[in-house]
Amino acid sequence: MGAVIVVGAQWGDEGKGKIVDLYSRNADLVVRYGGGANAGHTLVVDGQQLVTHLMPAGALQPGTQLVLGHGTVIDPAVLLEEIDALDVRGLFSSQRLTISERAHLVLPHHMLVDELRDQRAGSLGTTKRGIGPAYEDKVARCGLRVGDLLNEQRFRRKLTTALDWWRPTIEALGGTPPTEAATVERYLECGKRLAPYVGDAAGIVWNALQQGRRILLEGAQGTLLDVDSGTYPFVTSSSTVSGGACSGVGIGPTCIDAVVGIAKAYTTRVGNGPFPTELDDDAGQALREAGSEFGATTGRPRRCGWLDLPALRHAVRINGLSGIALTKIDVLTGLDEIKVCTGYRFDGKVLDVPPFDDLDEVEPVYASLPGWTEPLDACRRFEDLPERVREYVHYIEQAIECPAWLVSVGPDREQTIVVHDPFM
Ligand code: IMP
Repeated sequence: MGAVIVVGAQWGDEGKGKIVDLYSRNADLVVRYGGGANAGHTLVVDGQQLVTHLMPAGALQPGTQLVLGHGTVIDPAVLLEEIDALDVRGLFSSQRLTISERAHLVLPHHMLVDELRDQRAGSLGTTKRGIGPAYEDKVARCGLRVGDLLNEQRFRRKLTTALDWWRPTIEALGGTPPTEAATVERYLECGKRLAPYVGDAAGIVWNALQQGRRILLEGAQGTLLDVDSGTYPFVTSSSTVSGGACSGVGIGPTCIDAVVGIAKAYTTRVGNGPFPTELDDDAGQALREAGSEFGATTGRPRRCGWLDLPALRHAVRINGLSGIALTKIDVLTGLDEIKVCTGYRFDGKVLDVPPFDDLDEVEPVYASLPGWTEPLDACRRFEDLPERVREYVHYIEQAIECPAWLVSVGPDREQTIVVHDPFM
């Protein structure tokens, strides 16, 4: 196997960090292809927690090379903090990281606009990390890129234009635009520190492919947050799906060998927007507590609900999933009954995938499956799982027509059942 894509198959926070970390053991390169510091990977190593926002989750495997592709948006200050955090743990060396010179920058005015907009009624509930405005600049063709940090004159010129452009918007939202001088000084300083890592990321990935090296392309957020295929407008601003990996890294679809979708055994969402299987009662609260469902980036409590098969089926199709990695199944232990949404009743019909809009109008149709009481955290082979857990997994596989390649039974690396390794 050459290149494997890992995507979130729900609304993000599916546990991609743990799975990418695990698959990275067999990878030579781990490449992030989209999103920015809105993502949050919680990694647990030897009982210690490390949260990364920009750095690929493969960072904990010392032998892997790390790449941030041009589909990402980079907040240099956050990236430097993460480099330092890895350095302290002895996990960083300058040869390890390449940041695409073409990746766009997230600048102070992006964060300010994001924050001001999100205070208004009907907001999306963003992470306030400036992601939307940074991608707006990119498609409006007035963004600043990582490579611009290395050329003072160009950086100054482009920043002046950008601030002139955003000033009326910021003022109309009741804010005060950041001063140019402060931004220039701070960011050029960041640029000096990041300079050794800035380069032609797509070229590095291409060469690695030619040499037959194994590449893991790491998605951020999830399919239902994709700007095209998600629950628009309650989405992020990037392409989170497998197709986005090709454009966000700069490789062709013929280079991809497998696509793995990460899905929780139930569903969560942070931020606003429709969520058909949401449980806003004690059952939802119990899932939140059992699964420690609080945002890694913002600390917000995640909304919790039953597994949504139409949403997952959509993810299988949109991403062309080869297999799924089912995470946090241990969180369901102790429930008498487990519900799964098999379809949406809408407009006199039952839909098996989400409609293009009106997701808040659908009525979920549920099937009820028997729960189990046995703890799962010590299971290491599929056969070790209690019969009812195996039935739950098989039920999902059949409903979405996609095999489970991995089942995660706890937060630690070892608490994992690998049914099929995508690199083998
Ligand atoms: P933004 O990406 O900060 O613009 O936020 C847009 C929407 O995506 C909001 O509902 C966020 O809560 C959600 N979102 C962004 N990143 C993540 C993530 O990594 N996990 C879960 N939700 C996310």
